[in-house]
Amino acid sequence: MEGSSLFRNRHFWAAVWLLLFAVAIAVVTYQRLYPAEAFIGRIQVFHWMGIIGAGIIAVFVPLYAFLKRRYPKTRKALFISHMYVNLLAFEFVSAHFGVLGEVKPQVDTGTGFLQYIVVSLLVLTGIFRRFQIAPAQTQIWRFLHLSLVVSFYIILVNHILGALRLV
Ligand code: HEM
Ligand code: HEM
Repeated sequence: MEGSSLFRNRHFWAAVWLLLFAVAIAVVTYQRLYPAEAFIGRIQVFHWMGIIGAGIIAVFVPLYAFLKRRYPKTRKALFISHMYVNLLAFEFVSAHFGVLGEVKPQVDTGTGFLQYIVVSLLVLTGIFRRFQIAPAQTQIWRFLHLSLVVSFYIILVNHILGALRLV
């Protein structure tokens, strides 16, 4: 996408603001500026955030892939919602990422930080592909975007097992 039309694209600016918002949420949670460690039921607020964020991605990504093939006419609407749904999930995951400030080395699952990098790269490669940023590399963004999905699921299983102390 050309520079001027990119800057006039409201979806692009929405994506930029949502990315900045995610960074702010991660910092605010890390600094415990709200009671992130409070319990809702048996689970702490920042862990709920991880469960909700990862749950949204894990459910909506295959759903998107399925619906776009099954109902080709809804492709455009699905495509727009794919970005917003995943950016919303990124906000939740960022709130969970703030748990990093609390985790001691002996309980570190060893996979959470890596998973946050994977989700960040998924979001960035998706945005680069969607808005044709560096168009000469479009096929690379596409390849990375799709292959990172595999990493997301593998690390997620590992992370949850680690959090439950099963591995
Ligand atoms: C995209 C998804 C996720 C990301 C990026 C993520 C990231 C992180 C990070 C950075 C940490 C701190 C360092 C570490 O222990 O590895 C962590 C810890 C933790 N995560 Fe996640 N997480 C995700 C999903 C989940 C889910 C779905 C659960 C629910 C089972 C979960 C449960 C936990 C728990 C319980 C800890 C704390 C470990 C402890 O204190 O013993 N996470 N996560
Ligand atoms: C954690 C977040 C995300 C995951 C796991 C994810 C996953 C996927 C998957 C599996 C596909 C292929 C669907 C199919 O054709 O069957 C896809 C396509 C796509 N996604 Fe995402 N996505 C994420 C976030 C985003 C974001 C934030 C954007 C930004 C706009 C985006 C943009 C795209 C684009 C442009 C395509 C079409 C790629 C192509 O076929 O050329 N994605 N995504």
